[in-house]
Amino acid sequence: MAQNVPVMTLDGPSGAGKGTVSRAIAQRLGWHYLDSGAIYRALAIAALDAQLALDDVDGIVRTATAMDLRFEPGEPPLVILNGADVSPLLGLEVTGDAASRVAALGPVRDALLQKQRGFRKAPGLVADGRDMGTVVFTDAGCKIFLTASAEERALRRYKQLKEKGVDVSLPDLTREIEERDRRDRERSQAPLKMADDAHLVDSSAMSIEAVIARCLEILQSC
Ligand code: DC
Repeated sequence: MAQNVPVMTLDGPSGAGKGTVSRAIAQRLGWHYLDSGAIYRALAIAALDAQLALDDVDGIVRTATAMDLRFEPGEPPLVILNGADVSPLLGLEVTGDAASRVAALGPVRDALLQKQRGFRKAPGLVADGRDMGTVVFTDAGCKIFLTASAEERALRRYKQLKEKGVDVSLPDLTREIEERDRRDRERSQAPLKMADDAHLVDSSAMSIEAVIARCLEILQSC
Protein backbone atom coordinates (compact mmCIF):
# COMPACT_ATOMS: atom_id res chain seq x y z
CA MET A 1 0.00 0.00 0.00
CA ALA A 2 1.28 3.47 -0.90
CA GLN A 3 0.65 4.58 2.69
CA ASN A 4 3.45 2.29 3.86
CA VAL A 5 5.99 3.83 1.49
CA PRO A 6 8.32 6.26 3.35
CA VAL A 7 8.19 9.92 2.36
CA MET A 8 10.60 12.74 3.11
CA THR A 9 9.19 16.21 2.43
CA LEU A 10 11.22 19.35 1.70
CA ASP A 11 9.18 22.54 1.72
CA GLY A 12 10.31 26.14 1.62
CA PRO A 13 10.46 29.30 -0.48
CA SER A 14 11.89 29.37 -4.01
CA GLY A 15 15.66 29.54 -4.28
CA ALA A 16 16.37 27.88 -0.93
CA GLY A 17 18.02 24.96 -2.77
CA LYS A 18 15.19 22.44 -2.37
CA GLY A 19 15.43 21.09 -5.93
CA THR A 20 19.17 20.40 -5.91
CA VAL A 21 19.08 19.00 -2.38
CA SER A 22 15.97 16.84 -2.94
CA ARG A 23 17.29 15.37 -6.18
CA ALA A 24 20.65 14.55 -4.58
CA ILE A 25 18.99 12.89 -1.58
CA ALA A 26 16.60 10.89 -3.79
CA GLN A 27 19.54 9.73 -5.88
CA ARG A 28 21.61 8.71 -2.85
CA LEU A 29 18.72 6.79 -1.29
CA GLY A 30 17.50 5.33 -4.60
CA TRP A 31 14.08 6.90 -3.90
CA HIS A 32 11.65 8.56 -6.31
CA TYR A 33 11.56 12.34 -6.56
CA LEU A 34 8.55 14.63 -6.87
CA ASP A 35 9.17 18.19 -8.06
CA SER A 36 5.69 19.56 -7.30
CA GLY A 37 6.71 23.06 -8.44
CA ALA A 38 7.30 21.60 -11.92
CA ILE A 39 3.68 20.38 -11.92
CA TYR A 40 2.43 23.91 -11.19
CA ARG A 41 4.87 25.32 -13.75
CA ALA A 42 3.73 22.81 -16.42
CA LEU A 43 0.12 23.69 -15.68
CA ALA A 44 0.96 27.40 -16.06
CA ILE A 45 2.56 26.67 -19.44
CA ALA A 46 -0.55 24.72 -20.53
CA ALA A 47 -2.84 27.55 -19.34
CA LEU A 48 -0.80 30.26 -21.09
CA ASP A 49 -0.67 28.12 -24.23
CA ALA A 50 -4.48 27.81 -24.17
CA GLN A 51 -4.66 31.59 -23.65
CA LEU A 52 -6.63 31.16 -20.45
CA ALA A 53 -6.87 34.04 -18.00
CA LEU A 54 -4.85 33.09 -14.93
CA ASP A 55 -7.89 33.52 -12.69
CA ASP A 56 -10.16 31.36 -14.89
CA VAL A 57 -10.62 28.71 -12.20
CA ASP A 58 -12.85 26.35 -14.21
CA GLY A 59 -10.66 26.51 -17.31
CA ILE A 60 -7.49 25.90 -15.33
CA VAL A 61 -9.02 23.04 -13.35
CA ARG A 62 -10.07 21.43 -16.67
CA THR A 63 -6.55 21.92 -18.02
CA ALA A 64 -5.05 20.43 -14.83
CA THR A 65 -7.30 17.39 -15.01
CA ALA A 66 -6.69 16.79 -18.72
CA MET A 67 -2.94 17.39 -18.86
CA ASP A 68 -0.69 14.43 -19.52
CA LEU A 69 2.51 15.10 -17.60
CA ARG A 70 5.58 12.89 -17.52
CA PHE A 71 9.05 13.29 -16.07
CA GLU A 72 11.89 11.63 -17.96
CA PRO A 73 15.41 10.98 -16.66
CA GLY A 74 17.84 13.88 -17.06
CA GLU A 75 19.75 16.34 -14.91
CA PRO A 76 17.41 18.04 -14.16
CA PRO A 77 14.68 15.63 -15.34
CA LEU A 78 12.87 16.43 -18.59
CA VAL A 79 9.26 17.54 -18.31
CA ILE A 80 6.98 16.24 -21.07
CA LEU A 81 3.62 18.00 -21.27
CA ASN A 82 1.01 16.49 -23.61
CA GLY A 83 3.82 14.83 -25.58
CA ALA A 84 6.04 17.95 -25.94
CA ASP A 85 9.26 18.65 -24.04
CA VAL A 86 8.57 21.90 -22.18
CA SER A 87 11.75 21.74 -20.05
CA PRO A 88 13.31 24.88 -21.62
CA LEU A 89 10.23 26.92 -20.64
CA LEU A 90 10.06 25.65 -17.08
CA GLY A 91 12.58 27.98 -15.46
CA LEU A 92 11.47 31.20 -17.15
CA GLU A 93 10.38 34.02 -14.83
CA VAL A 94 7.09 34.32 -16.77
CA THR A 95 6.39 30.63 -16.07
CA GLY A 96 7.24 30.96 -12.36
CA ASP A 97 5.07 34.01 -12.02
CA ALA A 98 2.09 32.33 -13.75
CA ALA A 99 2.66 29.15 -11.69
CA SER A 100 2.45 31.15 -8.47
CA ARG A 101 -0.87 32.64 -9.66
CA VAL A 102 -2.54 29.35 -10.68
CA ALA A 103 -1.18 27.76 -7.46
CA ALA A 104 -3.17 30.30 -5.43
CA LEU A 105 -6.48 28.81 -6.68
CA GLY A 106 -7.92 26.25 -4.24
CA PRO A 107 -9.83 24.09 -6.76
CA VAL A 108 -6.68 23.93 -8.91
CA ARG A 109 -4.65 22.65 -5.95
CA ASP A 110 -7.35 20.06 -5.21
CA ALA A 111 -7.29 18.91 -8.85
CA LEU A 112 -3.54 18.24 -8.57
CA LEU A 113 -3.60 16.38 -5.24
CA GLN A 114 -4.00 12.84 -6.57
CA LYS A 115 -1.43 13.40 -9.33
CA GLN A 116 1.10 14.31 -6.64
CA ARG A 117 0.17 11.45 -4.29
CA GLY A 118 0.61 9.04 -7.21
CA PHE A 119 4.37 9.60 -6.98
CA ARG A 120 4.49 7.72 -3.67
CA LYS A 121 5.99 4.43 -4.76
CA ALA A 122 8.42 1.96 -3.18
CA PRO A 123 11.12 2.15 -2.04
CA GLY A 124 10.42 5.79 -1.04
CA LEU A 125 9.76 9.35 -2.14
CA VAL A 126 11.47 12.69 -1.65
CA ALA A 127 8.82 15.37 -2.26
CA ASP A 128 9.80 18.98 -2.88
CA GLY A 129 7.39 21.93 -2.78
CA ARG A 130 5.49 24.32 -0.53
CA ASP A 131 2.79 22.13 1.05
CA MET A 132 4.27 18.64 0.84
CA GLY A 133 4.41 18.26 4.63
CA THR A 134 1.34 20.34 5.48
CA VAL A 135 -1.21 19.10 2.89
CA VAL A 136 -0.10 16.49 0.35
CA PHE A 137 1.86 14.04 2.55
CA THR A 138 0.80 14.99 6.08
CA ASP A 139 1.82 11.52 7.33
CA ALA A 140 5.40 11.80 5.96
CA GLY A 141 7.89 10.29 8.39
CA CYS A 142 10.40 13.07 7.91
CA LYS A 143 9.64 16.72 7.16
CA ILE A 144 12.15 19.47 6.48
CA PHE A 145 11.56 23.18 5.97
CA LEU A 146 14.47 24.56 3.99
CA THR A 147 14.85 28.30 3.90
CA ALA A 148 17.38 31.07 3.20
CA SER A 149 17.25 34.86 3.35
CA ALA A 150 15.56 36.61 0.39
CA GLU A 151 18.86 38.42 -0.41
CA GLU A 152 20.79 35.14 -0.56
CA ARG A 153 18.11 33.47 -2.70
CA ALA A 154 18.04 36.42 -5.10
CA LEU A 155 21.85 36.35 -5.33
CA ARG A 156 21.84 32.62 -6.18
CA ARG A 157 19.23 33.17 -8.90
CA TYR A 158 21.18 36.19 -10.19
CA LYS A 159 24.36 34.07 -10.56
CA GLN A 160 22.41 31.26 -12.30
CA LEU A 161 20.89 33.69 -14.81
CA LYS A 162 24.21 35.49 -15.40
CA GLU A 163 25.85 32.14 -16.16
CA LYS A 164 23.15 31.56 -18.77
CA GLY A 165 23.91 34.97 -20.24
CA VAL A 166 20.59 36.48 -19.12
CA ASP A 167 20.87 40.15 -18.22
CA VAL A 168 18.99 40.87 -14.98
CA SER A 169 19.22 43.34 -12.14
CA LEU A 170 19.74 42.06 -8.61
CA PRO A 171 17.35 44.60 -6.99
CA ASP A 172 14.62 43.61 -9.51
CA LEU A 173 15.16 39.91 -8.77
CA THR A 174 15.08 40.51 -5.01
CA ARG A 175 11.81 42.40 -5.38
CA GLU A 176 10.29 39.64 -7.55
CA ILE A 177 11.34 36.94 -5.07
CA GLU A 178 9.87 38.88 -2.16
CA GLU A 179 6.63 39.43 -4.08
CA ARG A 180 6.32 35.72 -4.98
CA ASP A 181 7.10 34.74 -1.36
CA ARG A 182 4.41 37.08 -0.15
CA ARG A 183 1.86 35.59 -2.55
CA ASP A 184 2.83 32.02 -1.59
CA ARG A 185 2.67 32.83 2.16
CA GLU A 186 -0.51 34.90 2.16
CA ARG A 187 -2.75 32.79 -0.07
CA SER A 188 -5.65 31.20 1.80
CA GLN A 189 -5.18 27.75 0.22
CA ALA A 190 -2.20 25.74 1.46
CA PRO A 191 -0.02 28.78 2.18
CA LEU A 192 3.73 28.30 2.43
CA LYS A 193 4.38 27.58 6.09
CA MET A 194 6.44 25.23 8.16
CA ALA A 195 4.64 22.08 9.37
CA ASP A 196 4.50 21.82 13.16
CA ASP A 197 6.50 18.61 13.01
CA ALA A 198 9.09 19.83 10.44
CA HIS A 199 12.80 20.38 11.06
CA LEU A 200 14.08 23.83 10.09
CA VAL A 201 17.26 24.15 7.98
CA ASP A 202 18.51 27.64 7.04
CA SER A 203 20.80 27.29 4.02
CA SER A 204 21.83 30.99 3.83
CA ALA A 205 25.42 30.35 4.93
CA MET A 206 25.69 26.65 3.99
CA SER A 207 27.11 24.90 0.94
CA ILE A 208 24.80 22.53 -0.97
CA GLU A 209 26.89 19.57 0.28
CA ALA A 210 26.48 20.73 3.88
CA VAL A 211 22.71 21.05 3.41
CA ILE A 212 22.47 17.55 1.90
CA ALA A 213 24.50 16.13 4.79
CA ARG A 214 22.32 17.93 7.35
CA CYS A 215 19.09 16.66 5.72
CA LEU A 216 20.39 13.08 5.63
CA GLU A 217 21.36 13.40 9.30
CA ILE A 218 17.82 14.60 10.08
CA LEU A 219 16.32 11.72 8.07
CA GLN A 220 18.29 9.23 10.17
CA SER A 221 16.93 10.77 13.34
CA CYS A 222 13.28 10.81 12.14
O1 DC B 1 9.18 25.52 -6.59
P1 DC B 1 8.85 26.32 -7.81
O2 DC B 1 9.47 27.69 -7.81
O3 DC B 1 9.14 25.56 -9.07
O4 DC B 1 7.25 26.55 -7.76
C1 DC B 1 6.58 27.33 -8.71
C2 DC B 1 5.34 27.96 -8.08
O5 DC B 1 4.41 26.92 -7.76
C3 DC B 1 5.62 28.71 -6.78
O6 DC B 1 5.35 30.10 -6.91
C4 DC B 1 4.66 28.17 -5.77
C5 DC B 1 3.90 27.09 -6.47
N1 DC B 1 3.95 25.83 -5.75
C6 DC B 1 2.95 25.58 -4.84
O7 DC B 1 2.09 26.43 -4.62
N2 DC B 1 2.91 24.39 -4.19
C7 DC B 1 3.85 23.48 -4.38
N3 DC B 1 3.79 22.31 -3.72
C8 DC B 1 4.91 23.73 -5.29
C9 DC B 1 4.94 24.92 -5.95
